[in-house]
Amino acid sequence: MRKVAILGGKGNAALVAAAMEHARRMGAMEWEVAGFLNDREPVGSIIDMFPVIGKTTDAKRLLDEGYWFVNAILRIDGNHERIAMFENLGIPDDRLATFVHPMAYVAPSVQLGAGCIIMPNVSMSPGTKLGKGCLMMVGSMMGHDNIVGDFCHIAAQAAVGSYLTIGKGVHIGLNATVKENLSIGDFATLGAGAVLTKNMGENEIWAGNPAKFLRYVR
Ligand SMILES: CC(C)(COP(=O)(O)OP(=O)(O)OC[C@H]1O[C@@H](n2cnc3c(N)ncnc32)[C@H](O)[C@@H]1OP(=O)(O)O)[C@@H](O)C(=O)NCCC(=O)NCCS
Repeated sequence: MRKVAILGGKGNAALVAAAMEHARRMGAMEWEVAGFLNDREPVGSIIDMFPVIGKTTDAKRLLDEGYWFVNAILRIDGNHERIAMFENLGIPDDRLATFVHPMAYVAPSVQLGAGCIIMPNVSMSPGTKLGKGCLMMVGSMMGHDNIVGDFCHIAAQAAVGSYLTIGKGVHIGLNATVKENLSIGDFATLGAGAVLTKNMGENEIWAGNPAKFLRYVR
């Protein structure tokens, strides 16, 4: 089994760790969670059931020690800086852990970038391509023939339509719906429960049903 260090802590990282451990207990023996890299919690502290094993800058050392990595540090305001921080760590794509939980459906023609995480009860339809480091959270649905940029976060139960072009670092909120044939710019965010019927520009935050422009990311 390959040891994984997950960047982050409470929130997405702990959810990913739990899903990886759940998969291992189901018999999927590819990944073993070693713990978190976290700049806020002390090394040795426990988050859910795994330890903090270092700061994010320890990734370089752990790389030499043979670990694999998942980036789960994403947030709506400041995502640009957080993704840049991760990219500056210089972890090669072939050391990013790509994980598909055994309870997910991923059509055979889907292409997953390095470090993508596909959580339980996700459904991904044919012909869609995800960039690297994307998180498809529990129960989210990705339609067919989409092109999705790096480090996108599709929150739990979101339903994403088809023939979409989605930029880098995009967040689709909890239980949101995206109509087909749209484009979404880099670092845009769709609020929880929103229904998107129009294109969203770069750095824009939209919310509501039908979704309307709310503000720009900070
Ligand atoms: C859209 C969002 C980013 C806006 O955050 P924000 O800028 O802090 O917004 P505020 O809470 O200050 O709300 C501003 C206004 O927008 C409204 N609003 C906020 N989120 C909304 C949503 N999802 N749907 C409809 N209206 C929303 C608020 O009611 C408020 O309206 P008012 O001015 O009439 O009172 C945030 O509310 C959201 O939905 N985040 C996604 C949550 C999510 O998906 N989490 C996933 C788990 S990781």
